[in-house]
Amino acid sequence: MKNKIALVTGGVGGIGTGVCIALAKQGYFVIANYVVPGSEAAWQAKMQQAGFSHDDCDIAFADVSDFNASGKMVADIESTIGPIDVLINCAGITRDVSLRKMTPEQWHAVINTNLSSVFNVTRHVIDGMCDRGFGRIVNISSVNATKGAFGQTNYAAAKAGILGFTKSLALEVAKKGVTVNAVSPGFIDTDMTAAVREDLRQQTLAAIPTGRAGTPDDVANAVLFLVSEESGYVTGTNMAVNGGVHVYQ
Ligand SMILES: NC(=O)c1ccc[n+]([C@@H]2O[C@H](COP(=O)([O-])OP(=O)(O)OC[C@H]3O[C@@H](n4cnc5c(N)ncnc54)[C@H](OP(=O)(O)O)[C@@H]3O)[C@@H](O)[C@H]2O)c1
Repeated sequence: MKNKIALVTGGVGGIGTGVCIALAKQGYFVIANYVVPGSEAAWQAKMQQAGFSHDDCDIAFADVSDFNASGKMVADIESTIGPIDVLINCAGITRDVSLRKMTPEQWHAVINTNLSSVFNVTRHVIDGMCDRGFGRIVNISSVNATKGAFGQTNYAAAKAGILGFTKSLALEVAKKGVTVNAVSPGFIDTDMTAAVREDLRQQTLAAIPTGRAGTPDDVANAVLFLVSEESGYVTGTNMAVNGGVHVYQ
């Protein structure tokens, strides 16, 4: 078995895949969680292309908006592969619409998938991390948690909730060798942003001081630092990876 085991929820998505490859390159055994059957195929191809096989990585099916399904996934991983040392909560969806048109279904889908999922999975790994005296949790929030965005009351609320969760849990487990941090990406080129209308996309890109969209690697590099042994004194933070589009703290 490799050094440490990392679980990435939403691991087969754009940012998730970038994080998985970066972690595997550092020697972690990486498990990518997914929910839509078939969505893991592209991930498997990309991992293989990057030089990784079943000895280096695996997949785990679960709807992380469901507490019991998340618990079953964690239990299955820990009994067949080993204890989870690193958790990246990356699963997320958008259901963009102004509040005046938003349905309860659109509200709850985003809150459950983007925020409750962080509780659902973390709750099942946190005791083991504390008992073993080591753990790294990184929650993927968003620039829109602190900036706000038209048509994203549900998404911004969920992502802001992640920041409160991160700071509070960081305090609860600091003495146990477990760190809890957030990463807030700006506009990153993935399927999620490919859905953005072209004129809005150009407008968004024009407003980014670095002059380009971010890549999954940009996010993965921040994650790599936060999961490292060397980052043990860094906890409860929110690392912005947004090309300077929103400068704060
Ligand atoms: N792209 C950006 O500009 C950007 C900016 C800020 C923050 N973020 C955040 O970064 C994270 C990754 O986004 P992305 O851009 O990589 O999007 P993406 O390519 O659409 O990936 C999202 C992933 O979440 C998974 N997922 C959705 N619902 C799930 C559920 N109920 N259970 C388990 N997995 C679920 C999807 O799995 P399936 O493929 O199986 O459906 C998919 O792999 C999200 O939390 C997003 O909010 C993205």
